[in-house]
Amino acid sequence: MQTGDRVKIEIEKLVLGGDGLSRIGRLVVFVPYSCPGDELLVEIIKVKSNYASARIIEIIKPSNERQIPQCPYFFQPGKTDFCGGCNWQHLDYPIQVKYKQELMQETLKQLGGVNLKKVEIKPSIPSSCIWRYRNKMQLPVRKQEGKVITGFYTPGTHKIVGFSDCMLHSSLMNKIVQYFEGIVTASAVSIYNETTGEGLLRHLVLRQSFFKDEIELNLVITKRKMTSINVIIKKLLDRFPSISGIFININPLKSNVILGNQTIKIYGKDYLMEKLGKKKYCMSPTSFFQVNKSQTENLYKLVAEEVRDEQATLWDIYCGCGTIGLWCAPLVKKVYGIEESKSAIRDAENNARMNNITNADFFQGKAEEVLSRFLKDKYQKPIKNSIVVVDPPRAGCSRAVLEKISKIYPWKIIYISCNPATLARDIKFLKGKGYYLKEIQLVDMFPQTSHIECLTVLER
Ligand SMILES: C[S@@+](CC[C@H](N)C(=O)[O-])C[C@H]1O[C@@H](n2cnc3c(N)ncnc32)[C@H](O)[C@@H]1O
Repeated sequence: MQTGDRVKIEIEKLVLGGDGLSRIGRLVVFVPYSCPGDELLVEIIKVKSNYASARIIEIIKPSNERQIPQCPYFFQPGKTDFCGGCNWQHLDYPIQVKYKQELMQETLKQLGGVNLKKVEIKPSIPSSCIWRYRNKMQLPVRKQEGKVITGFYTPGTHKIVGFSDCMLHSSLMNKIVQYFEGIVTASAVSIYNETTGEGLLRHLVLRQSFFKDEIELNLVITKRKMTSINVIIKKLLDRFPSISGIFININPLKSNVILGNQTIKIYGKDYLMEKLGKKKYCMSPTSFFQVNKSQTENLYKLVAEEVRDEQATLWDIYCGCGTIGLWCAPLVKKVYGIEESKSAIRDAENNARMNNITNADFFQGKAEEVLSRFLKDKYQKPIKNSIVVVDPPRAGCSRAVLEKISKIYPWKIIYISCNPATLARDIKFLKGKGYYLKEIQLVDMFPQTSHIECLTVLER
């Protein structure tokens, strides 16, 4: 098999990351935007010793689990410029959830050695909003063929596809992006060039509060050179009264990382405020906040059911703006939140004050280091009646964090994961420390995409 070969295949199943899998003889072939049961004509685009990648040229016979994607920028066979924002629009929503559930279980079994017969698999929780649910957009700004363009990359390329309406975001956010593109085009601002590293404006980041219908903008620029940026900001403010805050972020580095280290407020409020359940939470522009509001509330309700214990000390590790710990604080004796982002810890402390919560303390630093200090200075022995919640980034928990958690010796660990592969690895490690997986539950945060979010409960 060689690059450029065209072959007919049938898709067997979906794999983590969302691609379909087929086999040609002993060669495994991954095909994005496919569905189990599809009969396809594909072109091989990459061949390695143990697998190949292919793109769909023609859908010969579609699987009956397919639906017609609603978004005009979504992949179509033969199309080379398409938006990489979401990858599962061709699957009907209940089918998306079904496959996420299967992939989550399969991964825990294969990579985590989990015996699923001994685990309570709770019913998955689909998202009530499957369109326009996202509160955040991060868009590169580039010049392509002489035109300023703000959009999402075509996967595997540096080509940006613009849009007039992204159906995962609100119409207000979409209108701001369209207007922004127009005024930047008409302005004197220079646009960042990835190849040379020259130019000023590199990204537009928008975040929306659905509680107040306010929008916060963060313009990522290479240096603090404000004349042309100020013109853009003034026009945006004149046109959109719902913009409550504007920031600039300085990122001079020639890399794919979106945000630099310095964020400066130019206009308005220091943070956005969102309401989750009965509590209000503020979030600074660079602090993490979950993207799907109603599913976040569902997720936190599930956590609260698991931690309800007046005598318990709750450790909220990777706590972001303190949202989980503060949600659960009235149900437990004490909350310790740990988070590396300085802005998020400031937000967490503000959020405790704003919600009149007095039994929560927050600690800034890498979880590895903060826990080390705790165990050295304060808690040499296991802490009676501890419950740990971890909600790490995609990389999962580091070995050091898991080691420290096992020293705290919580009787229960609630592990929220956005990556079943690292979750499986960490569950396997915790099994070696005497924990068993009691429950798993899919909480779908990311409709139209293959991203998987789930909650697991481990006990000893
Ligand atoms: C998936 S978010 C979860 C945030 C929060 N639990 C929530 O529900 O909004 C992961 C958080 O972990 C933080 N983080 C990443 N690596 C960390 C580390 N080594 N130590 C502490 N925090 C870390 C990130 O800044 C981010 O806020």
